[in-house]
Amino acid sequence: MKIEIDSKKVFINSGNNKEEIHPFWLRERINNEDALDKGNQQRLFDPNSINTNIDIEKIENEDGLLNLFFNDGTNYKIKEDQILNEYKLQNLDPISIDKIKWDSNFNNFQKFKFENDIFEKKIMYDLLVSFYKYGFVVLTNVPTEDNFIIKFANSIGSVRRTNFGEFFNVRSVPNPNDLAYTSLALSPHTDNPYRKPVPCVQLLHCITNNVSGGNSTLVDGYTVSEKIKEDYPEYYEILSSVKVKFKFIDNTVVLEDMSELIKLDEKNNFKQVRFSPRLDYAPILEKSKLDLFYKARNKISELYNSDKYKVEFKLETGDLLMMDNHRLLHGRTKYDVNEGDRYLQGCYIDFDSTEGKLRHLKRKFNL
Ligand SMILES: [Fe+2]
Repeated sequence: MKIEIDSKKVFINSGNNKEEIHPFWLRERINNEDALDKGNQQRLFDPNSINTNIDIEKIENEDGLLNLFFNDGTNYKIKEDQILNEYKLQNLDPISIDKIKWDSNFNNFQKFKFENDIFEKKIMYDLLVSFYKYGFVVLTNVPTEDNFIIKFANSIGSVRRTNFGEFFNVRSVPNPNDLAYTSLALSPHTDNPYRKPVPCVQLLHCITNNVSGGNSTLVDGYTVSEKIKEDYPEYYEILSSVKVKFKFIDNTVVLEDMSELIKLDEKNNFKQVRFSPRLDYAPILEKSKLDLFYKARNKISELYNSDKYKVEFKLETGDLLMMDNHRLLHGRTKYDVNEGDRYLQGCYIDFDSTEGKLRHLKRKFNL
């Protein structure tokens, strides 16, 4: 792939195709001091104020550096490489990391040790890559004082506040507004399926855990969805097309959202799962269709709850679990409050935060 100049035109030649680059595309990339902020790279002008009939009057090529002169009197220099890079990346997600499916055999996963300034170190990049591959990571030695989870979350991006507040304390309490705040076992579920949008990443930080039960469980919704797709195509079709209503009610709010249990993207690939059997309501459909839907929902529930797909581990003081709430289901085993204390703090962040951090570290370490 290369840049070619032909009189007053710039072309991109991909080997089997040669296309002219629109002069306006080049004009709006003007990078002079008075056109672009040096620090944040934001435009200091509105490109909509430029005449769209812009033309190039003269091009000088100085060893891969194009000096472009436009018919509105402006000129600037741009590297051929910059144009080539932008062209190559335009259809490519810079954080595109292939998901790796896992099941109960994946119990010896890598843990990342927290260290000061981790957020600007290469280990943070490795951690985020691992997060996107497997849908979760566990950090150890994360400080447990002064609601450190908030500082942690805000060092990656910004905390996403929900109806449970900026962060929530997962601890057994009297008259809870959610079963999370009891000592009961929690079967695999995704959080906040009734929210628009559903919080993307959940952070759970263990402050104390000196009971014998209360283990954390995780299931890869991607693995299970792909299994259903392979073995039960009819179920997959209905689970990825029927929208159910998810609802949350307490004294101050009524939250609702409709979604498929398996949500696909525009290319019909896996995008998200939602699963919370205490909160979901199927629509009234033709009896035969609902019949199939209920069978399909039973099957996905059976797989989500099966030991074949579940990993189980104990979070110790200082451990922080970061999980993809659009991909993974989480739960816990029951515990006995008379044995001691189990106290976790949780909060949410969005993919916007993890992606932004990953791109930044990629740029910083030239990866
Ligand atoms: Fe939860």
